[in-house]
Amino acid sequence: MPYLELKNVSKGYGPKGSRNEVLNQINLSVEEGEFVAIIGYSGSGKSSLINMIAGLTKPDEGEVLLEGKAISGPGPDRGLIFQNYSLLPWLTVHENIALAVDEVFKSWPKQQRKEHIEKYIAMVKLSHAATKFPRELSGGMRQRVAVARALAMDSRVLLLDEPLSALDALTRATLQDDISDIWQRTRKTVIWITNDPDEAILLADRVIPLLPTAPATLGQSIAIPLARPRDRNAINHDAQFKALRTELITKLLDSKGKNRLVISKKLTLPDILPEDLNTVNTLQFFNRHGPRRRSDDQRENVEVIS
Ligand SMILES: Nc1ncnc2c1ncn2[C@@H]1O[C@H](COP(=O)(O)OP(=O)(O)O)[C@@H](O)[C@H]1O
Ligand SMILES: [Mg+2]
Repeated sequence: MPYLELKNVSKGYGPKGSRNEVLNQINLSVEEGEFVAIIGYSGSGKSSLINMIAGLTKPDEGEVLLEGKAISGPGPDRGLIFQNYSLLPWLTVHENIALAVDEVFKSWPKQQRKEHIEKYIAMVKLSHAATKFPRELSGGMRQRVAVARALAMDSRVLLLDEPLSALDALTRATLQDDISDIWQRTRKTVIWITNDPDEAILLADRVIPLLPTAPATLGQSIAIPLARPRDRNAINHDAQFKALRTELITKLLDSKGKNRLVISKKLTLPDILPEDLNTVNTLQFFNRHGPRRRSDDQRENVEVIS
């Protein structure tokens, strides 16, 4: 029996008749301790998918099962990490994590909870910032708090919805390495949503493309047999890594091409052209009445693909 399983799951939004079908017949099996990345275009239904696993929303059809039991709502067995950190701004780093730990480990003595919280703050390298408030932290540090909180709850499954997308490239790289390192020590079951092929291949055991087939469906898994720990610099020159990346990107691009709907829309663009103050003839500029207009100069056809 798979640890986490989605069987023929479909999901849409809106009233019958004008319903936006987002996900169609999703089947997914994840083993305990596996690190699975799901990659897809923006708006293809990734959050819809992970929210059903989190129990925040229900599928229209099909089932989501954890150890064979239907998921009926959110629970501490699944820790969620979002892109926007979701910390309480009036609580310090320690207090934000304590909120979750106190709830999950109610029966523990106070000292044990405190040590537990400190252990996870240290794991994400934030011991020096334990008494700081979210507003005093950088984006990367805030996301470290969210990771520590999810780990401290000792959830069996970690669900991460584009956790690093809001961060700058260098911070993202550092956090990818740190989270990968923590994962190797804790071996949680992870579902990591991303739109970054390199991130997916660097971190995961298996990458699954969410194909934007309107409604979207999961493509075939791509196993990532690269040895761990994976060195991001070395991997960039690795032939196997390059081949995996090409395979993944090709799958995503091909699926986009197949179902592409092309419409042409007539656009009304602002009819005023900017002046180039380096070349403009100042006298001419001040003598002319009104701005230069595009319609004076040319006509343009603009095709929009959506
Ligand atoms: N609560 C909702 N109500 C209505 N439409 C939604 C809702 N959540 C998502 N959608 C729509 O479903 C589609 C997929 O959204 P989402 O799952 O957020 O995609 P992704 O996370 O891949 O960007 C989008 O068209 C979005 O507008
Ligand atoms: Mg999303």
